[in-house]
Amino acid sequence: MKLTILGGGGFRVPLVYGALLGDRAEGRVTDVVLHDLDAGRLSAVARVLSEQAAGVPGAPAVTATTDLDEALRGADFIFSAIRVGGLEGRAADERIALAEGVLGQETVGAGGIAYGLRTVPVAVDIARRIARLAPDAWVINFTNPAGLVTEAMSRHLGHRVIGICDSPVGLGRRIARILGANPREAWIDYVGLNHLGWVRGLRVAGRDQLPRLLADPDLLGSFEEGKLFGAEWLRSLGAIPNEYLHYYYFNREAVRAYQEAEKTRGAFLRDQQERFYEAMRRPDAAALATWDNTRAEREATYMSESRAAAGAGEREADDLSGGYEKVALALMRAIARDERTTLILNVRNHGTLSVLDADAVIEVPCLVDANGAHPVAVDPLPDHATGLVCAVKAVEREVLAAAESGSRTTAVKAFALHPLVDSVNVARRLVEGYTGAHPGLAYLT
Ligand code: G6P
Ligand code: MN
Repeated sequence: MKLTILGGGGFRVPLVYGALLGDRAEGRVTDVVLHDLDAGRLSAVARVLSEQAAGVPGAPAVTATTDLDEALRGADFIFSAIRVGGLEGRAADERIALAEGVLGQETVGAGGIAYGLRTVPVAVDIARRIARLAPDAWVINFTNPAGLVTEAMSRHLGHRVIGICDSPVGLGRRIARILGANPREAWIDYVGLNHLGWVRGLRVAGRDQLPRLLADPDLLGSFEEGKLFGAEWLRSLGAIPNEYLHYYYFNREAVRAYQEAEKTRGAFLRDQQERFYEAMRRPDAAALATWDNTRAEREATYMSESRAAAGAGEREADDLSGGYEKVALALMRAIARDERTTLILNVRNHGTLSVLDADAVIEVPCLVDANGAHPVAVDPLPDHATGLVCAVKAVEREVLAAAESGSRTTAVKAFALHPLVDSVNVARRLVEGYTGAHPGLAYLT
C-alpha cells in the first residue's frame, strides 16, 4: 500500500512515520512517498526517517520527489499536510492582525482567513490533480484551516477527502480521564466546525457523565479547560468548548497576551525550525536526535502565551503525543482494512446540523469503514453555538468565493463578516496588509 505525504519536508512528518513503524498488521503501508516543493527540507526529513527505520524489520520504504504528479500517481492514501507560505507566512498572518488590534492566530479570526485565502487555491489545484491522476485514492487533509480546506477539496473529491484534527479527541480524553472513565469506552457528544466545537456530553454505559464534572468545582479546577475557561463559565455553557473557543470567549485577553508576547507562535516555530533545517545541512548531523530535541522544545511551549494568560498551565505530556498522526493512522486503517471505528472528523454535513446545507464541512463523530466516514446523528447545538457556527461558516464561504473569483472585494467581505473583526475599515486594512505581505495573495485584484 502506497501512502503519499504532501508537505513531506514538514517538521511533523517523522511523527507520522513513527506511527507507521508501529503498525505491524496485514495491509499496512509498505511505501511512503514524500512530496515537497523544497528539496532541502525533503532531504532533511528523509534522513530523519531513515534513522527511524534503522533496525525495524519491514519498515515502509521511503522515496522523495518534488514532482507533484509523480507523487500522486498510484497512491492509495494521500496525506495533505502542506503549509502555503511556510512559517514565515504564519508569522505574518499573526503579526498583521495583532497590529490591527485583532486576533492574530494560525486558524482563528483574521489570521485564519489570511491563511485560508492563501491555501485554498493551492489545495484546489491539488484536489483537481488527484481527481485526475489518483481518482481511487483517499485523501486525509491535515492542512489548516482544516475545515475550510477540506470543504474546498471536497468540491472536487466528494467524500474521498476527510479532514482531521487532534483537538476534539484530546479534549474527550481529558474529560474522560478527569471523570475516571476509560476514554475507549466513552461516547463523546461533540459537534461544530473545526476549532469551533463543544462537548455536550460524555456517555459511559449509556449514562452522561458530564453533569458530574460540571457540578464539581474541585474536578473542574484540576482540569485544563476548567482553568482555561473558568468553572463558572463552563457551568453557564453546560458544555466544554474546544480550547480554540478561548479566542472567542476571552478575545480581548487573548489579543492582549499575544500582543505582549515576545514572539508570535509562528515566529517562534519559524526560528526554531530554521535551526533544525540549518543543522541538517551538515552531512554528519545526527538527524533523529536533532529533530527530537527540536520537537521536545516545541511541545513544551504549545499554545503557551494564551495558556499562561489564562493560568491554564502546560499540556500534560501524554496528551501531546496523541496527535494528528494517531488520528490519521486510525482513519487510514479503518478505511483500508474495514476496521470499523468511530472518530471525530471533518466531513460533509449531510443534514447532521440542520442549520447548515448538506455540503458544508463540519466536525462531528463519524462511523468509519471501507466506504469512508459517515457522520452520526447529533442533538442540535444551542442557539449561541449555532450563531457562531453559522457566522464562521458564512465567512468560510466568502473565502472560498474570493479564492475562486480572485475578488478583493469578496476577501474584504470575508474579514469584515468575521465575529472577531470589529470594523469594515479594519477588514479593508487587513486585506491591504496581507496582500502586501504575501506573494500567495497576488491573485486578489
Ligand atoms: C493543534 C491544532 C492544530 C494546530 C496545532 C498548532 O494541534 O489542532 O490544528 O496546527 O495545534 O500547534 P503549533 O505547535 O504549530 O502551534
Ligand atoms: Mn487542528
